[in-house]
Amino acid sequence: MDLQASICFIFFTFTVVFCLFSLSLIIIRSNPCCNCDICTAFITGSWSPEFVNLSDWYTHLLRQSPTGTIHVHVLNNIITANPDNVEYMIKTNFDNYPKGKAFSTILGDLLGRGIFNVDGHSWWFQRKLASLELGSLSIRSHALNVVIEEIESRLIPLITTAADDKDSILDLQDVFRRFSFDSICKFSFGLDPGSLNNLSGSRPVSELESAFDTSTRLCAMRGLAPSPLIWKFKRLFNIGSEKELKSSIDIVKRMAGRVIKERRESGSGKDLLSRFMGSISDDDYLRDIVISFLLAGRDTVASALTSFFLLLTQNPKVLQKIREESDRVLGGSPDSIPGFGDLQHLHYLQAALHESMRLYPPVQFDSKFTKQDDVLPDGTFVKRGSRVTYHPYAMGRMERIWGSDSLQFKPERWIRDGKFKPESAYKYPVYQGGVRVCLGKEMSLVEMKCVALCLIRRFDVNVVNPNRVLRFSPGLTATVSGGLPAVVRRRKVPE
Ligand code: HEM
Repeated sequence: MDLQASICFIFFTFTVVFCLFSLSLIIIRSNPCCNCDICTAFITGSWSPEFVNLSDWYTHLLRQSPTGTIHVHVLNNIITANPDNVEYMIKTNFDNYPKGKAFSTILGDLLGRGIFNVDGHSWWFQRKLASLELGSLSIRSHALNVVIEEIESRLIPLITTAADDKDSILDLQDVFRRFSFDSICKFSFGLDPGSLNNLSGSRPVSELESAFDTSTRLCAMRGLAPSPLIWKFKRLFNIGSEKELKSSIDIVKRMAGRVIKERRESGSGKDLLSRFMGSISDDDYLRDIVISFLLAGRDTVASALTSFFLLLTQNPKVLQKIREESDRVLGGSPDSIPGFGDLQHLHYLQAALHESMRLYPPVQFDSKFTKQDDVLPDGTFVKRGSRVTYHPYAMGRMERIWGSDSLQFKPERWIRDGKFKPESAYKYPVYQGGVRVCLGKEMSLVEMKCVALCLIRRFDVNVVNPNRVLRFSPGLTATVSGGLPAVVRRRKVPE
C-alpha cells in the first residue's frame, strides 16, 4: 500500500469510528426509549405526507395540546405557543433562558462576539450602545434616506423595466433579498454592494452577498446536523461544507475589516459603524457587531415583504384599502415619496404589515437553552440544559389566541377607532419582545412601508399561482422554496 492509500485508509476508518461514536452519543443524549406519538412520528417522518412544513405539523400539535406546549423528547426540545410561557421566558425569568452555547457555537465563526450571538455582559454592553444609537433621530433619518435612495435609484427602475416587458416574470423574493442586502449594508457599513443593480443585467450577486449567503446557509446546515460533532469534525480537518464555510466567512470578515480600516483612516460617516467606532477601539469586535446587524436586518425584511405581496395578491380588497389610505395621506400622485410624518398616519398599512407577519413571521421559531431546572407557567417542567422554543408561526395560527378567523388575513383586527392598536408582544412575538426585543423593529417597519407604498402606488404586482402551498427552505429566516414569481405592470391610475 503506498503512502497516499494508507492515509486514505486511516482517514476513512477514523471517519467511520467517529460517526459511530457521534451516533451513539446522540442516542444516549436523546431519549431513545421514547415511543410517544410525537417522537415516533418525528423519527419515522410519518408527519410529512400530511404536512408540507415541519412548522405546520408543530402548529397542528400545538393546537391540539391543552396547554399549547409540546415536548419532542428525542430532541430534548419543549415547544410552546402559550403566551404566558413566552412572557415568562423572554421577560419574567429571562436570565434562565439564554441563547446558550449550542446556538452561539453554530454561529460563532461568522458572528464572533456580535450582539446576536452572545449572552451576559457582552450582550448587555452592545445592547445599551446599540439602543442608544438606533434611538437617535439622526440615525433614523439616515436609515430613511438609505431606503428611499435604494428605492428610487434601483428598485423602481428595475420594476419599471420588468413592467414594460410583457414576458418578464420577476422573483419577488430575490428582488427583496437584494434590496434589503444593499440597504442594510449601506446603513450598517456605509458600503454599497450594488446587489440589486446586478439583477437588471442578470449578473450574479456581489462577492460579499454571495459569501454572506453561503455563510448563513452553511451555518443553518450546522444546526440541522444530527450531532454538532459531525460539523466540528469537518471543521477540524477543514473538509467538505466546513471548508466552503470557512472560505466564505473569511471573505465576509476580510471585506468588513477593509471597510473598518478605510473608515478609521478617512474619518467617520453617517452609518452605524462610524457611530460605534467612537466607543469601541477593538476592530475585530467592531466587525463582529456590524456583521450581526447584517444578519439580523437582511433576510427578515425580505421575508416579510415577500409574504406581504403574496397576501396582497390573494386579498385585492386589502390592497385597495391601502391605496385609498395612501392617497388620503400622501395625495393622489403615485410618485410622491413618504416622509416620517406620513408613515405615522398610515394606520391601515401598519395593520396590514403586522397581520401579514402574524401569518408568515420571518423568524418562525426561536430557541433558548435552560440554565436551571424550572417550571413554565402552564406547569411544564423544564430540565436544565433543555431547549425551549417559542413558535411565532404556530402562535399566529392559534384560534385560542386570535379567534375562529385566525387563518384569515384581516388587517382590521389591528384597528380600533380608526387607529392601529398593537397587541401584546407575548401573544405576537414576531420581533421577540421582552428584554431582548428586536432592535431594528421600527427601522424595518419604515423600510417595509416605503417599499410597499412605492410599489403598490405605481404598479400592479401579481404573484403567479398565488394559492400554491408554500414550502419553506430550512434556515434561520423563512425563505420560500423556489422563490415567489410575479408579474408586474404599470398601474393605470384612475383620473
Ligand atoms: C421584519 C423585520 C424583522 C423581524 C421580524 C425581526 C425579528 C427579530 C427577532 C425575532 C429577534 C430575536 C432573535 C433572537 O434573539 O434569537 C431580533 C433580534 C434583533 N434584531 Fe430584528 N427583526 C427584523 C428586522 C431587523 C432589522 C432591520 C434590524 C437592524 C437594523 C434588526 C436588528 C436586530 C438586532 C440587532 C437583534 C438582536 C437584539 C438582541 O439580541 O438584543 N432587526 N429581530
